[in-house]
Amino acid sequence: MNFETMMNLFSRRGILFPSSEIYDNHPSGFWDYGPYGASIKRKLIDLWRSEVVKKTGMVEIDGSICMAADVFRASGHLESFADPLVECVKCGSIFRADKLIEEVGKEKAPEGMAAEKFDSLISKYSIKCQSCKSPLGKTRKFNMMFKVSLGATKPQDAYLRPETCQSIFADFPRLIKVMKKPLPLGIAQIGKSFRNEISPRNATIRAREFTQAEAEIFFDPKKQDVQNFEDLENYELNLKSVKDSKDYSPIKVKEAVGKKMISKFAAYYLSIMQQFVVKCGIPQEKIRNRQLGDEERAFYAKESWDTEIKTSLGWIEIVANNNRSDYDMTAHGKISGKDVTIINQETNEKFIPHIWEISMGVDRLFYCVIELSYRREGERTYLSLPSYAAPFHVSVFPLISKGSLQEKAAEIAQKLEIAGFDVDMETKDSIGKRYARADEIGVPFCITVDNETLSDNSVTIRHRDTKKQDRIKISELVGKLEELI
Ligand code: ATP
Ligand code: GLY
Repeated sequence: MNFETMMNLFSRRGILFPSSEIYDNHPSGFWDYGPYGASIKRKLIDLWRSEVVKKTGMVEIDGSICMAADVFRASGHLESFADPLVECVKCGSIFRADKLIEEVGKEKAPEGMAAEKFDSLISKYSIKCQSCKSPLGKTRKFNMMFKVSLGATKPQDAYLRPETCQSIFADFPRLIKVMKKPLPLGIAQIGKSFRNEISPRNATIRAREFTQAEAEIFFDPKKQDVQNFEDLENYELNLKSVKDSKDYSPIKVKEAVGKKMISKFAAYYLSIMQQFVVKCGIPQEKIRNRQLGDEERAFYAKESWDTEIKTSLGWIEIVANNNRSDYDMTAHGKISGKDVTIINQETNEKFIPHIWEISMGVDRLFYCVIELSYRREGERTYLSLPSYAAPFHVSVFPLISKGSLQEKAAEIAQKLEIAGFDVDMETKDSIGKRYARADEIGVPFCITVDNETLSDNSVTIRHRDTKKQDRIKISELVGKLEELI
């Protein structure tokens, strides 16, 4: 199984496909989710809301995508949000220098390095244009912000946000007043972010428009306590510190904190995220939290860990976990001229809050969940998704798609919908093809209505992963499905 198998499945079932695809010249890096894909993505988001936002007592906002230029002057994006770009001197193909060196030279080239360092690595590994094998030009930094011009007569420059968190920072002075909650206060947001990626690829792994689910935890640097830390002390985190040569080493939270491998704050929130990723259906051994060294960290970060998932494409970064210190609030206070400090109620001292960030890419998570739940058994393929992440909880199939069997199936489907299940009712195609489709999009249970149903009010319930079929009374269906899901 590889990336092509996944793209094939996505296309065949309309799960995910290029945006504007009916036009030959559609831009790359933009993707649309069809109904099954949109449903799975929504369920992963629901799970993030319950397992991260609600579980840790965060609040959630819904900010605007287009923001004032000053926001990004303050955040540093207008000056520093740039990737290293190299261009072929002959055919003009462009590449991200850091990714090219990583792929061809098998050496990690942190994106924040000076341009000359990329040039010397490109010459060290004799890297040529990947399209026509001609020499590459000099590396330059390319700013990835999307600028937009607002209004008709005196246009004003604004930018599409490259990360959702900037509205959380800009809104903080208002939110801290209205929410009346003590620190640490987590403020979460889910929404679209935009980056003019040099070479978008691997579908939604590197797109130009993508969904981020971010949480910014504001805290007093003198009081770095976290609620319910004891509950997680014995939880095993898969950590790869900068010194670790193995893929990762599983270690109990209290031991990692005791050895000063990781701060208490970081350990707590990494555990919350690792538990969440496991709940999405990713096996624990395919997850690691990799510490970033000085050159790899973003320009604003003091401590960083990437939560990564192992796929056929290698380890993929899903979540960036950063200690952003007081970088953001200090900068927004300075450029806006507004007071962003808060008062310590015990000492009456004013201070600028520090921030722990959990920045997750939902589309990357989506890809990993699908790839790691994909199973092939002979001719049969199915997605072994957790039932709460499947596009439907249940499919209801009449054995023959007409007459009283169809009517009975529709009646059962309606009853299940009223009971709160996501129900799919497919009536085209043979029963075999209907099972195959339900398996391939990950529906955990199929209910078949046959002639026996009409005489004794019973149906068969088929389990996706085992293909086991049980006969059950219609009156017991809701209870049985509640138990299973
Ligand atoms: P990479 O090194 O892969 O470019 P990044 O370090 O730039 O990623 P961050 O800036 O830390 O990524 O962004 C936070 C999260 O947002 C990432 O962990 C990822 O899940 C998601 N993300 C970032 N860029 C993209 C993109 N172009 N397409 C899809 N998701 C993205
Ligand atoms: N907010 C962190 C990031 O998107 O990089």
